[in-house]
Amino acid sequence: MVVLVTGGLGYIGSHACVALLESGYDVVILDNLSSGKLDVVSRIETITGRKPVLVVGDVRDTAVLKQVFNCHNIAAVLHFAGLKSPSESLSIPLEYFDCNVGGTLALLRAMHEKNIKTIVFSSSATVYGLPEEMPVTEACRAESPINPYGRSKLMAERILRDLAASDPEWRVACLRYFNPVSAHSGGLIGENPTAIPGNLMPYVTQVASGRLPRLTVFGSDYHTRDGTGIRDFIHVQDLAEGHVATLQYLQHTTGFEVFNLGTGTGVSVLELISTFEQTTGQKIAYEVGPRRSGDVAECWADSSKAERLLGWKARFGLVEMCRHAWQWEQTC
Ligand code: NAD
Ligand code: UD1
Repeated sequence: MVVLVTGGLGYIGSHACVALLESGYDVVILDNLSSGKLDVVSRIETITGRKPVLVVGDVRDTAVLKQVFNCHNIAAVLHFAGLKSPSESLSIPLEYFDCNVGGTLALLRAMHEKNIKTIVFSSSATVYGLPEEMPVTEACRAESPINPYGRSKLMAERILRDLAASDPEWRVACLRYFNPVSAHSGGLIGENPTAIPGNLMPYVTQVASGRLPRLTVFGSDYHTRDGTGIRDFIHVQDLAEGHVATLQYLQHTTGFEVFNLGTGTGVSVLELISTFEQTTGQKIAYEVGPRRSGDVAECWADSSKAERLLGWKARFGLVEMCRHAWQWEQTC
C-alpha cells in the first residue's frame, strides 16, 4: 500500500516515514523544503533499508498534487506539511492560514478528485486553548485556541469533520499531539535545529552542548508540585508509531475521529532538567525567570481513547527521551 506523506522531510514526518517503511508500506513524500532537508531521504534509507520516493513541491500547488496522484497509486495520506510556531503565527497569521488551511483544502480537493478518501491529519493539543480540566480528553472543549497557529489547526480539523459528514466513504483521523520531543534512537534523524529553540527539550540539549549559555525556567510560581509548568512529553518515535496504528484503524473504520497522542504523564520543567542531568551526566545551567505569556500551568493527555481504539500506547519514558535527544544533539 502506497502512502503519501506531506511534509515527510520534517521532524515528525521523517519519523513517520521510517515507521511506515518498517511496517511494509511504500512511501511517497511531498515536501517544499521550507524547513525539511534533502539528506533526510538517504537517512531514512539508511535506517530502514528502503527508499521513499521524494517529490519536491508545495501542498498548495494543484498541478503538483495532480502529478503526485497520477503517477503513484496512493491509497492514503498522512498530512504533516505545515507551519508550526505559535509565536511566529502571531506576526505572520496570513502565512499560517494560507499554508495550514489552504494547504489542507488543496490536498483534500485533489484527493477527492482521485477518490482517495483516507487521511491522517497532524493536529495539536494547542486546539484545546486553555484546557479546563486535567488530564485533557478528546471530549474537552476545543473551541478557543489562543493563537493563529492553533486556530489554523482547528479550522483544518473542522473542514475535515464537515467533509467526513458529507460523504460516508471518508476515513479521517485528527491526531492531537501533546509535546513531541527527542529523536530516533539510531541518532540519524531528529529535529532540524533552528536559531534559538523556543521549546524546552532542544533548549536543554543546546545548553548541555554549550551552544547556549543557560536555560531560563519560565516561572516557578505555578500551582504545581514544584512551581514549574507541567507538560506531557512524548517521544517522536512513539508518535510516529501512532500514525501507523491510525492508518491500520482507518482500514476498517469510516468517518471522523480525533485522538490525543501523549503519554498520559505530566512532567515538570525541573523534573525534565534533573532527569536529563542524571541520564546524560551533563549539568544544565539555569535560572528562574518570569512566566512566558500564553503558557498554561499544566497540560497532559488522557490518551486512553487511542489505546482503546488504535491499540497504541507510548513505550518510551522520559529517560529514553533525554538519552536520544542528547545523542541527536551531539551528532546533528
Ligand atoms: P517541521 O517543520 O519539522 O516539518 C514540516 C515539514 O513540512 C517540513 O519538511 C517542511 O519543509 C514541509 N512543509 C511545510 N509547508 C509545506 C507546504 N506548504 N508544502 C509542502 N511541504 C511543506 O514540523 P514538525 O514538527 O515535523 O510538524 C509536523 C506537523 O505536526 C505540522 O503540521 C505541525 O503543525 C504538527 N505539530 C507539530 C508539533 C511539534 O511539536 N513539532 C506539535 C503539534 C503538531
Ligand atoms: C508549545 C506551544 C504548543 C506546541 C508545543 C510543541 C506555546 C504557548 N505552545 O507548547 O502550541 O504544540 O510547543 O511544539 O508556545 N519552558 C521553559 N524554558 C524554555 C522553554 C520552555 O521554562 O526555554 C517551559 C514552558 O514554560 C513550559 C514547558 O517548558 O512550561 C514546555 O514548553 P515548550 O516546550 O515550549 O512547549 P509548550 O509551551 O507546552
